[in-house]
Amino acid sequence: MTDPLAELQCSHLDRLEQRYAEVLSRLGHDGVLIYSGQPALHFGDDQHTDFQAYGHFQHWTGQAYLAQSWLLVCPGKRPVLYLYAPDDFWHLPARLPQEAWVERVEVVKGRFDVPPALPRGRYAVIGDVGVATAKALGAELNPTALLLALDEERVRKSEYEVACIGQANRQAMAGHVAARDAFLSGAAELDVQLAYLKASRQRESHVPYGNIIGINAHAGVLHYQHYDAATPAKQQSLLVDAGHRYRGYCADITRTWAGAQADPLFPALTEAVTHLQQQLIAALRPGVDYVGLHERMHDLLADLLVEHRIVLGSPESAVANGITRAFCPHGLGHLLGIQVHDVAGRRTADGTAMPPPDEHPALRLTRELEPGMVVTIEPGLYVIPMLLDPLREGPAGHQVNWEQVERLAPHGGIRIEDNVLVTTGTPRNLTPEAE
Ligand code: GLY
Ligand code: MN
Ligand code: MN
Repeated sequence: MTDPLAELQCSHLDRLEQRYAEVLSRLGHDGVLIYSGQPALHFGDDQHTDFQAYGHFQHWTGQAYLAQSWLLVCPGKRPVLYLYAPDDFWHLPARLPQEAWVERVEVVKGRFDVPPALPRGRYAVIGDVGVATAKALGAELNPTALLLALDEERVRKSEYEVACIGQANRQAMAGHVAARDAFLSGAAELDVQLAYLKASRQRESHVPYGNIIGINAHAGVLHYQHYDAATPAKQQSLLVDAGHRYRGYCADITRTWAGAQADPLFPALTEAVTHLQQQLIAALRPGVDYVGLHERMHDLLADLLVEHRIVLGSPESAVANGITRAFCPHGLGHLLGIQVHDVAGRRTADGTAMPPPDEHPALRLTRELEPGMVVTIEPGLYVIPMLLDPLREGPAGHQVNWEQVERLAPHGGIRIEDNVLVTTGTPRNLTPEAE
């Protein structure tokens, strides 16, 4: 066996088999057929979009890019993988990795333009499957109760999953170090992106989310999506929010660096946001309400803004008047796993919806923390004109020191994001330090 994670993966599969058996039996299903999905065709063209397999398919196989394949799970029987691997001289047919899970499933190779027939009984089919296909199979399509229950099984990570997220973090961090070095040697956003991909060993279509590489004011665009090919005239700041995927599991890391022409305020604020982030990470414990932790981020951010003379009033009024929300409009973080914004972050364990509070609509995690959850902690501080201009004109405008804001504006913003495992004791930060 050449798989270094074989033992952990086997325990992960034991747990998965047991949990699926319990869920299926409780909901009265004899089994479930999981479709990996297929890439879409561009309209009027013969070219496909990038593809990522359905999360529950990856939960068993870790195969993020395996299309048109099916996994049949029936309690008490060996799972069957119907692997799309037709004879094809245009493409290399799919091959499975040398991992422990492959020996635990029966593999049937073929074309599967129509799904494999199901045995007699009450089956569900889940994934991006049409109504007609489900009908032809005689299976229930994406039953809500089943999807809620299976999503819940992804909330607390197995040791194997934590190891995969850790490996994704190590590879992503190699990319972050190279990105920083490229920036400091004068690179444009596109060069920073290429340096990141090279050092983290991944092609652009396989990153878990579009890398955010913002130099100077672009760092203030939360999901900045371009890679400027021109070298900036001045180097003030770089924000890189970029990850990696290992056996299906994602890293989601952000680092912010000051450039040679940064105002001294900027590195001071970057250090302060990093310190604030470390305080929040230290507070991660089972039973902690993540909404409360998000609110604590705003309290700490208000202290930071007052300390650096960006806010002139009291920290309490900066929070009460929405000033901190104008400087940081996104949530503190989210669950992380097979999906970057992993499933079931806004529900209780029994599936009841828990929407975010009205004043924090972007918050993606509203649950109490439990051991085994992996969360991101990603406080930020930005100059976003669309949010700050109305603040300036409004009744709380006099509480902001706009001269300091102008000093910060050309740097765009700051975000520091790590991936952290909640344990019964001290939290375990899975994101290694930059060298
Ligand atoms: N990279 C997206 C996020 O941090 O949530
Ligand atoms: Mn994130
Ligand atoms: Mn991120």
